Amino acid sequence: MALIEFEHVFKRYPGSQTAAVEDLNLHIEAGEFLTLLGPSGSGKTTTLMLLAGFEALNSGSIRLNGCAIESLPPHQRNIGVVFQNYSLFPHMTVAQNVAFPLSVRKVPAAAIATKVAAALEKVHLQSFAERRPNQLSGGQQQRVALARALVFEPRLVLMDEPLSALDKKLREEMQLEIRRLHRELGVTMVFVTHDQSEAMTLSDRVAVFNHGRIEQLASPQMLYDAPANPFVANFLGDNNIIKGRYASAISQGLDGARAAIRVAGGKGLQGRSCNGKSAALDADATLCVRPEFLQVAAHADGLDTPNCLDARLLDIIHQGDHWRLVVSVGTTEGGAPEAAPQWFAKISPRALPPGLVVGQGLCLGFRPEDAWVF
Ligand SMILES: Nc1ncnc2c1ncn2[C@@H]1O[C@H](COP(=O)(O)OP(=O)(O)OP(=O)(O)O)[C@@H](O)[C@H]1O
Ligand SMILES: [Mg+2]
Repeated sequence: MALIEFEHVFKRYPGSQTAAVEDLNLHIEAGEFLTLLGPSGSGKTTTLMLLAGFEALNSGSIRLNGCAIESLPPHQRNIGVVFQNYSLFPHMTVAQNVAFPLSVRKVPAAAIATKVAAALEKVHLQSFAERRPNQLSGGQQQRVALARALVFEPRLVLMDEPLSALDKKLREEMQLEIRRLHRELGVTMVFVTHDQSEAMTLSDRVAVFNHGRIEQLASPQMLYDAPANPFVANFLGDNNIIKGRYASAISQGLDGARAAIRVAGGKGLQGRSCNGKSAALDADATLCVRPEFLQVAAHADGLDTPNCLDARLLDIIHQGDHWRLVVSVGTTEGGAPEAAPQWFAKISPRALPPGLVVGQGLCLGFRPEDAWVF
């Protein structure tokens, strides 16, 4: 049995035309690190608020350990919460801030002292107990907020963009800190971010939200390697997209179903099929391929794949360990060049054809097994 079960949860804020969360079905396993990832307004915070009990749902149910919790007030749910802006009490010391959840639970003073010391030790802030929040750095304040969420030993900790106010270096340090705490304490964590690299660093599984619904729920690697649809393919990592029409029935390749699409200019391209047998001939189709899977050559015979597109080089940027090429694809026939999709290629220094100049024609290639057709 999952620790948390959302079943057909629906939430619309009063006065709002659209649902913030729509038919949400989500099971969270005990001990897992689950991240809710998605664009602004997609329902991530609302989902946490419903779980914590700060918002009420309109229909559906949420169960914790098999028991419905919709009617339990927040403090009876035994859930630790960390928000984006730390929300520490400015007039209290670090120790008093961390002690707060214990005081409201009427824990005896001696036990509070022991638990606060242990919680501060976990986040490496033992020597800061007597300081006030304004005497701490952003990262230290965030660690106090974390200690305060952990001090009453909740079985579940919710974190809503807790690191977004920190600079990059501190943010990466705190990500490792949170990973360590999750590993050491074995507590279930539900984390919200719209930073995909943060989601990939921390999570066992990631739920990709869009318009109040989950587009896909899977491990970071699955989301990256086998996205369920173009939205997920684009949201995680860079992706190149070209639209076309199904050109043949779906065939069975060694690594699963294959589909061929025809793009502007009549060219046929093959990729792995995401629709199984359901796609009709001539229906709209989208092909996605990641920049790291593109090959570049001056002529098509320089590529080791039949998937080949004519392109024009728009820019070439040295990024240390690789070159980033900006190209427009499919500009040779039909449509105006400015309407052509812009693609990125990530090319290792050894694979870069010599003497490339901006404005020249190129051939782009990719293997069918490295592309997805939706
Ligand atoms: N208190 C509220 N009253 C009315 N509408 C709200 C309220 N809170 C959120 N919404 C709406 O509900 C939808 C989902 O909001 P939510 O805060 O859950 O998004 P989010 O994914 O957390 O976004 P962000 O990444 O910007 O924090 C949005 O359309 C938002 O405008
Ligand atoms: Mg939010």
